Amino acid sequence: MRIAVIGTGVFGRTLAQALQRAGHDVAVGTRDPGETSQREDWLGVDVPLQQLAVVAGDAELVVNATNGGASLAALGEVGSDHLAGKVLLDVSNPLDFSQGFPPTLSVKDTDSLAEQIQRAFPDAKVVKALNTVTVSVAVDPGLVGNGDTTVFAASDDAEAREVVIELLRELGWVDIIELDGLSNARGLEMWLPLWVRLMGPLGTAEFNLKIVR
Ligand SMILES: NC(=O)c1ccc[n+]([C@@H]2O[C@H](COP(=O)([O-])OP(=O)(O)OC[C@H]3O[C@@H](n4cnc5c(N)ncnc54)[C@H](OP(=O)(O)O)[C@@H]3O)[C@@H](O)[C@H]2O)c1
Repeated sequence: MRIAVIGTGVFGRTLAQALQRAGHDVAVGTRDPGETSQREDWLGVDVPLQQLAVVAGDAELVVNATNGGASLAALGEVGSDHLAGKVLLDVSNPLDFSQGFPPTLSVKDTDSLAEQIQRAFPDAKVVKALNTVTVSVAVDPGLVGNGDTTVFAASDDAEAREVVIELLRELGWVDIIELDGLSNARGLEMWLPLWVRLMGPLGTAEFNLKIVR
């Protein structure tokens, strides 16, 4: 599948490489490809970089892995015409670090960043997934709990959920809970205030939930 990953942070570049290894045709979107390619953290990353305005033109699926505070602006630069009709996997979190650590959520309870994105790009098929785990676990679930932990896929669009669930399976996920309705992203994003408070006591970001039933 042709996949455009929007985001050059640790999540975007790690997921892009994992999807490439899985056999997908991946490009990464960034504001300034020349500058990003010179960044120390881009050394050794062998995935093409393209400008936001072109990266998703021929993509079949788009991933939003941008900073939560910039996601709407970044996707605006990608362009609603390049998002229309496509699955938009949203891994972002609306974390606000302006008052220091721990961050607060810039949207919560009655709305979510995923729903803001869906409203801004109504012709995209937004699916919230993978925002609940650190990226090393997202691309390699076997790192914790012998691979038997839980991820979620929330969307209004059942077919789009299925496309993302198939990608999650390719990454190695087995326990995937499907949530019907993008408003469920509120719960997935509101896990973050506890997630950031667990990282210190646990001494690692590599942990996850297992929903036992
Ligand atoms: N790190 C993780 O393990 C993890 C786990 C789960 C979810 N997430 C979520 O995934 C997202 C990415 O996280 P991250 O840690 O990889 O990186 P990040 O530092 O949160 O975001 C980096 C990306 O945001 C873009 N960006 C920042 N300001 C922008 C602006 N004003 N306009 C347009 N684009 C802008 C950057 O664009 P340029 O390329 O142009 O610089 C870059 O691609 C976040 O929403 C985060 O909450 C991260």
